[in-house]
Amino acid sequence: MSVKKVYMETFGCQMNVSDSERIATLLEAKGFQMTVAEAEADVILLNTCSVREKAEHKLYTRIGQIRKSSADNLNNFPDSKKPVIGILGCVAQLEGETLFKRDQGIDFVLGTRAVGRVSEAIDNVFDGQKNLIDLGEREFGYDWMVADSHRQFPFVAFVPIIEGCNKFCTYCIVPFSRGREKSLVASDIIRHVLKLRREGIREVHLIGQNVNSYRPPSDSGLENFAGATAFSRLLRAVAATGIERIKFTTSFPRDFHTDIVTAIDANENLCNWVHLPVQSGSNNVLRAMRRGHTIENYLSRVDKIKASSRNISLTTDIIVGFPNETEQDFLETIKLVEYCQFTSAYIFKYSPRPGTPAFEMPDNVSAKEKSVRFLVLEKVVKNNQQKVFQNFLNKIFKVLVEKVSNKNTTQLSGHTTCQTVVNFEGSKELLGKIVNVEILEAKANTLYGKIC
Ligand code: 5AD
Ligand code: SF4
Repeated sequence: MSVKKVYMETFGCQMNVSDSERIATLLEAKGFQMTVAEAEADVILLNTCSVREKAEHKLYTRIGQIRKSSADNLNNFPDSKKPVIGILGCVAQLEGETLFKRDQGIDFVLGTRAVGRVSEAIDNVFDGQKNLIDLGEREFGYDWMVADSHRQFPFVAFVPIIEGCNKFCTYCIVPFSRGREKSLVASDIIRHVLKLRREGIREVHLIGQNVNSYRPPSDSGLENFAGATAFSRLLRAVAATGIERIKFTTSFPRDFHTDIVTAIDANENLCNWVHLPVQSGSNNVLRAMRRGHTIENYLSRVDKIKASSRNISLTTDIIVGFPNETEQDFLETIKLVEYCQFTSAYIFKYSPRPGTPAFEMPDNVSAKEKSVRFLVLEKVVKNNQQKVFQNFLNKIFKVLVEKVSNKNTTQLSGHTTCQTVVNFEGSKELLGKIVNVEILEAKANTLYGKIC
């Protein structure tokens, strides 16, 4: 029997990208072959996102396109077969059975914690099982490792440390799609990072919906590391592996304690970047979002971060147009952005998600007003970014050379330790190296410089 080819598309967050890396690793270990050519695939997998309505729509559009192109293929090549279509990830978890009713072309549905059983699912569909669905928990001994060839970035590795979310912010679907918080054992994480280091990985990103809510089932791996919270102890333990650069995302403001900053101060390889989503600059809106932090708490954390000896860059997420957000609330968000000097901020228009508490609130900021607030805030964020970038000019930054620039093939591209993109002239032999770059110019979201 010929080897079955699998084509996979990934939507959404870093966790989905990381899941897809592991899915590809597992499928190849089971004898499947991953392909980037959709037309030659025996199996098409869509790893989906449901955080905003737009992301979910994209999925249904994609399924329609896939069905059409496979029908065209069947017309042109009558011997060919319709590919098996599997829906994975957050939409799969939330919609379950209803996906089969929504689209006849779907063969199987695997929830967010069932992805370790993807090869069995595919085999069962080829054996004739119809409408296969698995929304179960992770199997015992689930393998979190990723093969080198399936890493999205060859020198950067994502290492999940916690999955799920217990916070239930009123707008957010994640606690429903990803389940409750579950932390991995620190000794397993350390073993994982040591293996990556041996394999030549220069930078790891410890990932999770809320990394600093890390609460492992045991102390294993943390015994030799002090700190007020398990997360700061984990940071110190990962730093002690000697891997060159460690980043972590996302942090939850309420659980962001000073011991994290102290750990960064004490360990050069803990990078100087914190992603701390504020969501709004108004206490009224934060209360309605049930974020568990006030602006005053948030700013005191920001002040502690800014007081670090390491010049830590701050990034954030902001939602505009949450139910009942007034012009005054929005102005407070602008004020906050100006104070915090974020290096960048991801702005989202509020999107009501069925099943969340905010879905029951009136979506009473008009689409037009949401767009206006989005554009106004975007401008403020850009201006602030330029202010931050002005301080970077003529300074030297250590950049991990990750790829040839998409826009200009004579240029290389990488990130600073503070997670800003830097482009510069250089040859491909430098890929995977950490080089010193003097910053000469700052454009939107990107710095330009020369190697020195
Ligand atoms: N509408 C708009 N943005 C949302 N986010 C999460 N849920 C929603 C929603 N319903 C944003 C938050 C979060 C980021 C990953 O997505 O800002 O931090
Ligand atoms: Fe969603 Fe809030 Fe959990 Fe972040 S902390 S994933 S916004 S519920």
